[in-house]
Amino acid sequence: TDSAKIKLGNGSDVKGTRVRVFGRVHRERRQKERMFITLRDGYGFMQVILSGPLAKTYDALTLTRETSMEILGQLMQVPEGAHAPNGRELHADYFKIHAGWKAAGGEDAITNRVSKDTEKATLLDLRHLTLRGETASKIMIVRDAVEFAFNTVYKELRMRKVSPPALVQTQVEGGSTLFKLGYYHEEAYLTQSSQLYLETCLPSMGDVYCIEKSFRAEKSLTRRHLAEYSHVEAELDFITFNDLLDHLEHVMCRVLEVTMADPTIKQYITELNPEFKMPERPFMRMKYQDAIDWLVEHEILNDEEEGKPPRPHKFGDDIAEAAERKMTDIINRPIFLTHFPAAIKSFYMMKDKDDPRVTESVDCLMPGVGEIVGGSMRIFDYEELMAAYAREDIEPGPYYWYTDQRKYGSSPHGGYGLGLERFLAWLCDQHTVRDCCLYPRYFGRCKP
Ligand code: 4AD
Ligand code: MG
Repeated sequence: TDSAKIKLGNGSDVKGTRVRVFGRVHRERRQKERMFITLRDGYGFMQVILSGPLAKTYDALTLTRETSMEILGQLMQVPEGAHAPNGRELHADYFKIHAGWKAAGGEDAITNRVSKDTEKATLLDLRHLTLRGETASKIMIVRDAVEFAFNTVYKELRMRKVSPPALVQTQVEGGSTLFKLGYYHEEAYLTQSSQLYLETCLPSMGDVYCIEKSFRAEKSLTRRHLAEYSHVEAELDFITFNDLLDHLEHVMCRVLEVTMADPTIKQYITELNPEFKMPERPFMRMKYQDAIDWLVEHEILNDEEEGKPPRPHKFGDDIAEAAERKMTDIINRPIFLTHFPAAIKSFYMMKDKDDPRVTESVDCLMPGVGEIVGGSMRIFDYEELMAAYAREDIEPGPYYWYTDQRKYGSSPHGGYGLGLERFLAWLCDQHTVRDCCLYPRYFGRCKP
Protein backbone atom coordinates (compact mmCIF):
# COMPACT_ATOMS: atom_id res chain seq x y z
CA THR A 1 0.00 0.00 0.00
CA ASP A 2 2.97 2.31 0.45
CA SER A 3 3.93 1.92 -3.21
CA ALA A 4 2.36 3.78 -6.10
CA LYS A 5 0.22 1.78 -8.53
CA ILE A 6 1.48 2.66 -11.99
CA LYS A 7 0.72 1.78 -15.62
CA LEU A 8 3.48 0.25 -17.69
CA GLY A 9 4.07 2.58 -20.67
CA ASN A 10 6.20 5.71 -20.93
CA GLY A 11 5.46 7.82 -17.96
CA SER A 12 6.99 9.93 -15.32
CA ASP A 13 10.52 9.00 -14.38
CA VAL A 14 10.04 6.86 -11.33
CA LYS A 15 13.36 5.03 -11.35
CA GLY A 16 14.45 3.97 -7.89
CA THR A 17 10.96 4.18 -6.47
CA ARG A 18 8.92 1.32 -5.15
CA VAL A 19 5.89 0.60 -7.32
CA ARG A 20 3.01 -1.80 -7.66
CA VAL A 21 2.05 -2.98 -11.15
CA PHE A 22 -0.65 -5.18 -12.62
CA GLY A 23 -0.53 -6.88 -15.99
CA ARG A 24 -0.32 -10.06 -18.01
CA VAL A 25 2.71 -12.15 -18.82
CA HIS A 26 3.54 -11.28 -22.42
CA ARG A 27 6.80 -13.27 -22.50
CA GLU A 28 8.96 -15.02 -19.95
CA ARG A 29 12.36 -16.62 -19.93
CA ARG A 30 14.58 -18.15 -17.32
CA GLN A 31 18.24 -17.31 -17.02
CA LYS A 32 20.07 -19.31 -14.38
CA GLU A 33 18.61 -18.31 -11.02
CA ARG A 34 16.55 -15.45 -12.40
CA MET A 35 13.34 -15.09 -14.30
CA PHE A 36 12.68 -12.31 -16.81
CA ILE A 37 9.04 -11.46 -17.42
CA THR A 38 7.75 -8.99 -19.97
CA LEU A 39 4.55 -7.71 -18.42
CA ARG A 40 1.83 -6.10 -20.56
CA ASP A 41 -1.08 -3.92 -19.46
CA GLY A 42 -2.32 -2.18 -22.63
CA TYR A 43 -0.35 0.97 -21.79
CA GLY A 44 2.98 -0.60 -22.50
CA PHE A 45 5.42 -3.25 -21.48
CA MET A 46 7.73 -3.61 -18.52
CA GLN A 47 10.57 -5.97 -17.86
CA VAL A 48 10.24 -7.62 -14.47
CA ILE A 49 12.98 -9.62 -12.79
CA LEU A 50 12.27 -12.31 -10.23
CA SER A 51 15.37 -13.46 -8.43
CA GLY A 52 16.42 -15.41 -5.36
CA PRO A 53 13.66 -17.30 -3.51
CA LEU A 54 10.95 -15.51 -5.55
CA ALA A 55 12.15 -17.24 -8.72
CA LYS A 56 11.88 -20.61 -7.01
CA THR A 57 8.31 -20.36 -5.79
CA TYR A 58 5.75 -22.76 -7.22
CA ASP A 59 3.93 -19.95 -9.01
CA ALA A 60 7.13 -18.71 -10.63
CA LEU A 61 8.20 -22.18 -11.71
CA THR A 62 4.82 -22.91 -13.31
CA LEU A 63 4.22 -19.44 -14.74
CA THR A 64 2.50 -19.40 -18.15
CA ARG A 65 2.05 -16.61 -20.65
CA GLU A 66 -1.09 -14.49 -20.29
CA THR A 67 -1.34 -15.16 -16.58
CA SER A 68 -2.33 -12.00 -14.71
CA MET A 69 0.02 -10.83 -11.97
CA GLU A 70 0.33 -8.25 -9.27
CA ILE A 71 3.95 -7.32 -8.66
CA LEU A 72 5.68 -5.02 -6.19
CA GLY A 73 9.25 -3.96 -6.49
CA GLN A 74 11.93 -1.42 -7.10
CA LEU A 75 11.93 0.30 -10.51
CA MET A 76 15.51 0.54 -11.79
CA GLN A 77 17.35 1.80 -14.83
CA VAL A 78 18.55 -1.13 -16.98
CA PRO A 79 22.30 -1.69 -16.77
CA GLU A 80 24.55 -0.34 -19.51
CA GLY A 81 24.30 -2.45 -22.67
CA ALA A 82 21.07 -4.20 -21.67
CA HIS A 83 17.71 -3.53 -23.30
CA ALA A 84 14.24 -3.30 -21.82
CA PRO A 85 11.11 -1.33 -22.68
CA ASN A 86 11.56 2.35 -21.73
CA GLY A 87 15.03 1.55 -20.44
CA ARG A 88 13.81 0.34 -17.09
CA GLU A 89 13.16 -2.87 -15.22
CA LEU A 90 11.28 -3.84 -12.12
CA HIS A 91 13.20 -5.78 -9.49
CA ALA A 92 10.36 -7.66 -7.85
CA ASP A 93 10.34 -8.32 -4.13
CA TYR A 94 6.80 -9.65 -4.03
CA PHE A 95 4.31 -10.98 -6.53
CA LYS A 96 0.89 -12.53 -6.37
CA ILE A 97 -1.22 -14.50 -8.78
CA HIS A 98 -4.67 -14.09 -7.30
CA ALA A 99 -7.31 -16.81 -7.47
CA GLY A 100 -8.51 -17.28 -11.04
CA TRP A 101 -5.72 -15.19 -12.58
CA LYS A 102 -3.71 -18.10 -13.93
CA ALA A 103 -3.84 -18.65 -17.68
CA ALA A 104 -4.99 -22.22 -18.10
CA GLY A 105 -4.29 -24.25 -21.20
CA GLY A 106 -0.73 -25.40 -20.75
CA GLU A 107 2.56 -23.86 -21.64
CA ASP A 108 1.38 -20.94 -23.69
CA ALA A 109 -2.28 -20.25 -23.38
CA ILE A 110 -2.60 -18.38 -26.64
CA THR A 111 0.50 -19.21 -28.63
CA ASN A 112 -0.68 -22.83 -28.65
CA ARG A 113 -3.88 -21.80 -30.41
CA VAL A 114 -2.49 -19.06 -32.60
CA SER A 115 0.59 -19.66 -34.68
CA LYS A 116 1.87 -18.44 -38.02
CA ASP A 117 0.16 -21.40 -39.71
CA THR A 118 -3.25 -20.87 -38.19
CA GLU A 119 -5.94 -20.44 -40.84
CA LYS A 120 -7.12 -16.87 -41.38
CA ALA A 121 -10.72 -17.87 -40.57
CA THR A 122 -9.63 -19.46 -37.29
CA LEU A 123 -7.65 -16.36 -36.41
CA LEU A 124 -10.79 -14.30 -36.97
CA ASP A 125 -12.82 -16.68 -34.79
CA LEU A 126 -10.13 -16.10 -32.16
CA ARG A 127 -10.15 -12.33 -32.57
CA HIS A 128 -10.81 -11.95 -28.83
CA LEU A 129 -7.39 -13.54 -28.25
CA THR A 130 -5.47 -12.22 -31.27
CA LEU A 131 -6.43 -8.72 -30.12
CA ARG A 132 -3.78 -9.25 -27.44
CA GLY A 133 -1.10 -9.45 -30.10
CA GLU A 134 1.29 -6.55 -30.53
CA THR A 135 0.19 -5.55 -34.03
CA ALA A 136 -3.54 -5.84 -33.36
CA SER A 137 -3.35 -3.90 -30.13
CA LYS A 138 -1.19 -1.16 -31.64
CA ILE A 139 -3.69 -0.65 -34.47
CA MET A 140 -6.56 -0.42 -31.99
CA ILE A 141 -4.66 2.08 -29.87
CA VAL A 142 -3.78 4.19 -32.94
CA ARG A 143 -7.44 4.02 -33.92
CA ASP A 144 -8.47 5.49 -30.58
CA ALA A 145 -5.95 8.31 -31.05
CA VAL A 146 -7.13 9.04 -34.59
CA GLU A 147 -10.75 9.19 -33.53
CA PHE A 148 -9.80 11.55 -30.72
CA ALA A 149 -7.82 13.67 -33.20
CA PHE A 150 -10.86 14.03 -35.47
CA ASN A 151 -12.84 15.31 -32.51
CA THR A 152 -10.03 17.70 -31.59
CA VAL A 153 -9.68 19.06 -35.12
CA TYR A 154 -13.42 19.48 -35.62
CA LYS A 155 -13.56 21.34 -32.32
CA GLU A 156 -10.72 23.59 -33.51
CA LEU A 157 -12.99 24.39 -36.45
CA ARG A 158 -15.92 25.04 -34.08
CA MET A 159 -17.92 22.22 -35.59
CA ARG A 160 -20.64 20.53 -33.59
CA LYS A 161 -20.97 16.82 -33.08
CA VAL A 162 -24.36 15.20 -33.46
CA SER A 163 -25.59 11.64 -33.29
CA PRO A 164 -28.02 10.72 -36.08
CA PRO A 165 -30.09 7.52 -35.92
CA ALA A 166 -28.88 4.14 -37.16
CA LEU A 167 -32.43 2.89 -37.82
CA VAL A 168 -33.78 4.69 -40.87
CA GLN A 169 -36.25 4.43 -43.73
CA THR A 170 -34.25 6.13 -46.47
CA GLN A 171 -31.30 5.01 -48.53
CA VAL A 172 -28.36 7.28 -49.28
CA GLU A 173 -25.98 5.26 -51.41
CA GLY A 174 -28.24 3.00 -53.46
CA GLY A 175 -30.73 0.26 -52.64
CA SER A 176 -28.43 -2.67 -53.40
CA THR A 177 -26.44 -2.45 -50.15
CA LEU A 178 -29.30 -1.85 -47.73
CA PHE A 179 -29.70 -4.08 -44.69
CA LYS A 180 -33.44 -4.39 -44.25
CA LEU A 181 -35.02 -5.27 -40.96
CA GLY A 182 -38.40 -5.59 -39.36
CA TYR A 183 -39.12 -2.53 -37.27
CA TYR A 184 -42.24 -3.13 -35.19
CA HIS A 185 -44.91 -3.19 -37.90
CA GLU A 186 -42.84 -1.48 -40.58
CA GLU A 187 -39.73 -2.04 -42.60
CA ALA A 188 -36.56 -0.13 -41.78
CA TYR A 189 -32.90 -0.15 -42.79
CA LEU A 190 -29.59 0.15 -41.06
CA THR A 191 -28.17 3.51 -42.10
CA GLN A 192 -25.69 3.67 -44.98
CA SER A 193 -24.59 7.20 -44.12
CA SER A 194 -25.68 9.95 -41.74
CA GLN A 195 -25.28 12.60 -44.43
CA LEU A 196 -28.94 13.44 -45.00
CA TYR A 197 -29.45 13.92 -41.26
CA LEU A 198 -26.34 16.07 -40.96
CA GLU A 199 -27.76 18.32 -43.67
CA THR A 200 -30.85 18.93 -41.56
CA CYS A 201 -28.69 20.22 -38.68
CA LEU A 202 -27.02 23.03 -40.63
CA PRO A 203 -29.78 25.65 -40.24
CA SER A 204 -29.69 25.57 -36.45
CA MET A 205 -26.31 24.19 -35.44
CA GLY A 206 -23.85 25.47 -38.01
CA ASP A 207 -21.23 23.11 -39.40
CA VAL A 208 -21.67 19.63 -37.99
CA TYR A 209 -20.00 16.24 -37.92
CA CYS A 210 -20.55 12.78 -36.57
CA ILE A 211 -18.59 9.60 -36.04
CA GLU A 212 -21.14 6.83 -36.28
CA LYS A 213 -21.47 3.35 -37.68
CA SER A 214 -22.64 2.95 -41.26
CA PHE A 215 -23.86 -0.35 -42.65
CA ARG A 216 -23.56 -1.78 -46.15
CA ALA A 217 -24.77 -5.19 -47.24
CA GLU A 218 -21.73 -5.61 -49.50
CA LYS A 219 -21.85 -9.02 -51.08
CA SER A 220 -18.28 -9.22 -52.27
CA LEU A 221 -15.24 -10.07 -50.21
CA THR A 222 -12.66 -7.36 -50.73
CA ARG A 223 -9.89 -6.03 -48.58
CA ARG A 224 -11.66 -2.72 -48.09
CA HIS A 225 -15.35 -3.50 -47.68
CA LEU A 226 -17.00 -4.12 -44.35
CA ALA A 227 -20.69 -4.65 -43.58
CA GLU A 228 -20.37 -2.35 -40.56
CA TYR A 229 -17.82 0.44 -40.49
CA SER A 230 -17.04 3.66 -38.66
CA HIS A 231 -17.93 6.66 -40.72
CA VAL A 232 -16.53 10.11 -40.02
CA GLU A 233 -18.94 12.51 -41.71
CA ALA A 234 -19.09 16.28 -41.89
CA GLU A 235 -21.39 18.83 -43.45
CA LEU A 236 -20.52 22.48 -44.07
CA ASP A 237 -22.85 25.38 -44.79
CA PHE A 238 -22.42 28.29 -47.25
CA ILE A 239 -19.38 26.89 -49.03
CA THR A 240 -18.13 26.39 -52.56
CA PHE A 241 -16.75 23.14 -53.92
CA ASN A 242 -13.23 24.52 -53.57
CA ASP A 243 -13.89 25.38 -49.92
CA LEU A 244 -14.91 21.77 -49.43
CA LEU A 245 -11.66 20.46 -50.92
CA ASP A 246 -9.55 22.89 -48.88
CA HIS A 247 -11.37 21.94 -45.69
CA LEU A 248 -10.94 18.23 -46.34
CA GLU A 249 -7.23 18.62 -47.00
CA HIS A 250 -6.85 20.67 -43.82
CA VAL A 251 -8.75 18.18 -41.68
CA MET A 252 -6.82 15.16 -42.95
CA CYS A 253 -3.42 16.80 -42.46
CA ARG A 254 -4.29 18.32 -39.11
CA VAL A 255 -5.65 14.99 -37.84
CA LEU A 256 -2.32 13.39 -38.74
CA GLU A 257 -0.44 16.18 -36.98
CA VAL A 258 -2.51 15.88 -33.81
CA THR A 259 -2.26 12.08 -33.88
CA MET A 260 1.51 12.12 -34.32
CA ALA A 261 1.96 14.65 -31.51
CA ASP A 262 1.56 11.83 -28.98
CA PRO A 263 4.98 10.13 -28.75
CA THR A 264 3.59 6.66 -27.99
CA ILE A 265 1.19 6.82 -30.94
CA LYS A 266 3.91 8.15 -33.22
CA GLN A 267 6.11 5.25 -32.18
CA TYR A 268 3.33 2.71 -32.89
CA ILE A 269 2.63 4.20 -36.32
CA THR A 270 6.31 4.18 -37.18
CA GLU A 271 6.59 0.54 -36.11
CA LEU A 272 3.50 -0.46 -38.11
CA ASN A 273 4.38 1.67 -41.12
CA PRO A 274 8.10 2.52 -41.26
CA GLU A 275 7.64 4.23 -44.64
CA PHE A 276 5.04 6.66 -43.34
CA LYS A 277 5.52 10.29 -44.20
CA MET A 278 3.14 13.21 -43.85
CA PRO A 279 1.34 13.82 -47.14
CA GLU A 280 2.57 16.79 -49.12
CA ARG A 281 0.20 19.71 -49.52
CA PRO A 282 -1.57 20.68 -51.64
CA PHE A 283 -3.02 17.28 -52.55
CA MET A 284 -3.05 16.50 -56.22
CA ARG A 285 -6.42 17.44 -57.77
CA MET A 286 -7.48 15.44 -60.78
CA LYS A 287 -10.74 15.49 -62.67
CA TYR A 288 -12.54 12.22 -63.39
CA GLN A 289 -12.12 12.82 -67.13
CA ASP A 290 -8.35 13.18 -66.65
CA ALA A 291 -8.29 9.98 -64.62
CA ILE A 292 -10.03 8.16 -67.48
CA ASP A 293 -7.42 9.57 -69.90
CA TRP A 294 -4.65 8.56 -67.49
CA LEU A 295 -5.98 4.98 -67.29
CA VAL A 296 -6.19 4.78 -71.09
CA GLU A 297 -2.65 6.14 -71.44
CA HIS A 298 -1.30 3.65 -68.89
CA GLU A 299 -3.23 0.80 -70.52
CA ILE A 300 -5.07 -0.09 -67.34
CA LEU A 301 -8.19 -1.76 -68.69
CA ASN A 302 -11.77 -1.94 -67.53
CA ASP A 303 -12.45 -5.64 -66.89
CA GLU A 304 -15.60 -5.19 -64.86
CA GLU A 305 -18.19 -6.04 -67.50
CA GLU A 306 -19.53 -9.56 -67.02
CA GLY A 307 -18.81 -11.83 -69.94
CA LYS A 308 -17.00 -9.16 -71.93
CA PRO A 309 -13.28 -8.88 -72.62
CA PRO A 310 -11.32 -6.12 -70.85
CA ARG A 311 -11.43 -2.82 -72.77
CA PRO A 312 -10.00 0.67 -72.36
CA HIS A 313 -11.83 2.92 -69.90
CA LYS A 314 -14.25 5.49 -71.25
CA PHE A 315 -16.23 8.43 -69.88
CA GLY A 316 -19.12 7.12 -67.80
CA ASP A 317 -17.26 4.09 -66.39
CA ASP A 318 -17.24 3.50 -62.69
CA ILE A 319 -13.51 3.22 -61.98
CA ALA A 320 -13.25 -0.17 -60.29
CA GLU A 321 -11.31 -0.88 -57.11
CA ALA A 322 -8.36 -2.57 -58.83
CA ALA A 323 -7.88 0.12 -61.48
CA GLU A 324 -8.27 2.87 -58.91
CA ARG A 325 -5.64 1.29 -56.66
CA LYS A 326 -3.19 0.77 -59.52
CA MET A 327 -3.48 4.43 -60.43
CA THR A 328 -3.10 5.58 -56.83
CA ASP A 329 -0.12 3.31 -56.25
CA ILE A 330 1.67 4.59 -59.36
CA ILE A 331 1.00 8.25 -58.58
CA ASN A 332 1.87 7.41 -54.96
CA ARG A 333 0.41 10.43 -53.21
CA PRO A 334 -3.05 11.51 -52.02
CA ILE A 335 -5.35 12.42 -54.91
CA PHE A 336 -8.58 14.37 -54.90
CA LEU A 337 -10.45 12.84 -57.79
CA THR A 338 -13.24 15.25 -58.71
CA HIS A 339 -16.16 15.83 -61.08
CA PHE A 340 -17.60 12.34 -61.46
CA PRO A 341 -20.46 11.86 -63.96
CA ALA A 342 -23.88 12.26 -62.37
CA ALA A 343 -24.96 8.91 -63.77
CA ILE A 344 -22.54 6.92 -61.59
CA LYS A 345 -23.00 8.96 -58.43
CA SER A 346 -25.68 9.35 -55.77
CA PHE A 347 -28.91 11.25 -56.33
CA TYR A 348 -28.12 14.21 -54.04
CA MET A 349 -24.98 15.46 -55.78
CA MET A 350 -24.83 18.97 -57.19
CA LYS A 351 -24.17 19.29 -60.93
CA ASP A 352 -21.24 21.32 -62.18
CA LYS A 353 -22.44 24.63 -63.57
CA ASP A 354 -20.06 24.51 -66.54
CA ASP A 355 -20.56 20.86 -67.43
CA PRO A 356 -23.90 19.40 -66.32
CA ARG A 357 -22.75 15.87 -67.24
CA VAL A 358 -20.61 15.90 -64.13
CA THR A 359 -21.06 16.66 -60.43
CA GLU A 360 -19.20 18.69 -57.83
CA SER A 361 -18.01 15.50 -56.21
CA VAL A 362 -14.74 14.26 -54.78
CA ASP A 363 -13.14 10.98 -53.79
CA CYS A 364 -9.91 11.13 -51.84
CA LEU A 365 -7.62 8.30 -52.92
CA MET A 366 -4.66 7.06 -50.91
CA PRO A 367 -1.80 4.79 -52.01
CA GLY A 368 -2.33 1.18 -50.99
CA VAL A 369 -6.03 1.59 -50.31
CA GLY A 370 -7.68 3.79 -52.95
CA GLU A 371 -10.84 5.65 -51.99
CA ILE A 372 -10.98 6.63 -48.33
CA VAL A 373 -13.29 9.65 -48.60
CA GLY A 374 -16.36 10.39 -50.70
CA GLY A 375 -17.96 13.81 -50.71
CA SER A 376 -19.80 16.41 -52.74
CA MET A 377 -21.76 19.60 -52.87
CA ARG A 378 -25.47 18.86 -52.42
CA ILE A 379 -28.37 19.78 -54.66
CA PHE A 380 -30.03 22.64 -52.83
CA ASP A 381 -32.73 23.52 -55.33
CA TYR A 382 -36.13 21.91 -54.77
CA GLU A 383 -37.01 21.20 -58.42
CA GLU A 384 -33.58 19.80 -59.13
CA LEU A 385 -33.86 17.44 -56.16
CA MET A 386 -37.27 16.21 -57.32
CA ALA A 387 -35.79 15.51 -60.76
CA ALA A 388 -32.90 13.61 -59.14
CA TYR A 389 -35.31 11.36 -57.17
CA ALA A 390 -37.11 10.60 -60.42
CA ARG A 391 -33.87 9.87 -62.27
CA GLU A 392 -32.80 7.39 -59.58
CA ASP A 393 -36.27 5.88 -59.22
CA ILE A 394 -36.50 6.97 -55.61
CA GLU A 395 -39.98 7.30 -54.14
CA PRO A 396 -39.82 10.81 -52.60
CA GLY A 397 -42.38 10.08 -49.84
CA PRO A 398 -40.00 8.85 -47.13
CA TYR A 399 -37.61 11.72 -47.93
CA TYR A 400 -40.14 14.45 -47.07
CA TRP A 401 -37.90 15.74 -44.25
CA TYR A 402 -34.89 15.92 -46.56
CA THR A 403 -36.88 17.62 -49.30
CA ASP A 404 -38.26 20.15 -46.80
CA GLN A 405 -34.75 21.56 -46.34
CA ARG A 406 -35.06 22.87 -49.90
CA LYS A 407 -38.25 24.72 -49.02
CA TYR A 408 -37.25 26.50 -45.83
CA GLY A 409 -34.11 28.51 -46.44
CA SER A 410 -31.91 26.39 -48.64
CA SER A 411 -28.19 27.08 -48.94
CA PRO A 412 -25.12 26.00 -50.91
CA HIS A 413 -23.61 23.26 -48.75
CA GLY A 414 -21.57 20.14 -48.98
CA GLY A 415 -19.82 17.48 -47.01
CA TYR A 416 -18.10 14.14 -47.05
CA GLY A 417 -17.72 10.79 -45.39
CA LEU A 418 -14.41 9.21 -44.47
CA GLY A 419 -14.10 5.49 -43.77
CA LEU A 420 -12.15 5.30 -40.52
CA GLU A 421 -10.94 1.74 -41.15
CA ARG A 422 -9.68 2.71 -44.61
CA PHE A 423 -7.89 5.73 -43.22
CA LEU A 424 -6.24 3.43 -40.67
CA ALA A 425 -5.38 0.81 -43.29
CA TRP A 426 -3.48 3.55 -45.11
CA LEU A 427 -1.91 5.09 -41.99
CA CYS A 428 -0.87 1.76 -40.43
CA ASP A 429 -0.02 0.09 -43.75
CA GLN A 430 -2.51 -2.75 -43.31
CA HIS A 431 -3.53 -4.97 -46.20
CA THR A 432 -7.15 -5.05 -45.15
CA VAL A 433 -9.67 -2.91 -43.27
CA ARG A 434 -10.63 -6.06 -41.36
CA ASP A 435 -7.54 -5.62 -39.23
CA CYS A 436 -8.46 -2.01 -38.48
CA CYS A 437 -11.59 -2.64 -36.46
CA LEU A 438 -12.21 -4.45 -33.22
CA TYR A 439 -14.49 -7.22 -34.47
CA PRO A 440 -14.88 -7.03 -38.25
CA ARG A 441 -18.27 -7.63 -39.82
CA TYR A 442 -18.38 -8.57 -43.47
CA PHE A 443 -20.09 -11.00 -45.83
CA GLY A 444 -20.26 -14.33 -44.00
CA ARG A 445 -18.95 -13.13 -40.62
CA CYS A 446 -20.89 -11.94 -37.62
CA LYS A 447 -18.76 -13.36 -34.76
CA PRO A 448 -17.20 -13.06 -32.26
O1 4AD B 1 -18.47 7.06 -50.82
P1 4AD B 1 -19.53 6.77 -49.80
O2 4AD B 1 -20.53 5.72 -50.09
O3 4AD B 1 -20.22 8.16 -49.49
C1 4AD B 1 -21.23 8.37 -48.60
O4 4AD B 1 -21.73 7.53 -47.90
C2 4AD B 1 -21.61 9.80 -48.44
N1 4AD B 1 -23.04 9.87 -48.13
C3 4AD B 1 -20.77 10.40 -47.34
C4 4AD B 1 -21.05 11.86 -47.12
O5 4AD B 1 -20.91 12.64 -48.04
N2 4AD B 1 -21.40 12.23 -45.90
O6 4AD B 1 -18.81 6.38 -48.43
C5 4AD B 1 -17.90 7.26 -47.84
C6 4AD B 1 -16.67 6.52 -47.38
C7 4AD B 1 -15.90 5.83 -48.50
O7 4AD B 1 -15.03 6.73 -49.14
C8 4AD B 1 -15.16 4.75 -47.75
O8 4AD B 1 -14.00 5.27 -47.13
C9 4AD B 1 -16.13 4.38 -46.67
O9 4AD B 1 -17.04 5.45 -46.52
N3 4AD B 1 -16.87 3.17 -47.02
C10 4AD B 1 -16.61 1.96 -46.52
N4 4AD B 1 -15.68 1.53 -45.65
C11 4AD B 1 -15.68 0.21 -45.31
N5 4AD B 1 -16.56 -0.68 -45.82
C12 4AD B 1 -17.51 -0.30 -46.71
N6 4AD B 1 -18.38 -1.19 -47.18
C13 4AD B 1 -17.56 1.08 -47.08
N7 4AD B 1 -18.35 1.80 -47.92
C14 4AD B 1 -17.91 3.08 -47.87
MG1 MG C 1 -17.72 6.42 -52.61
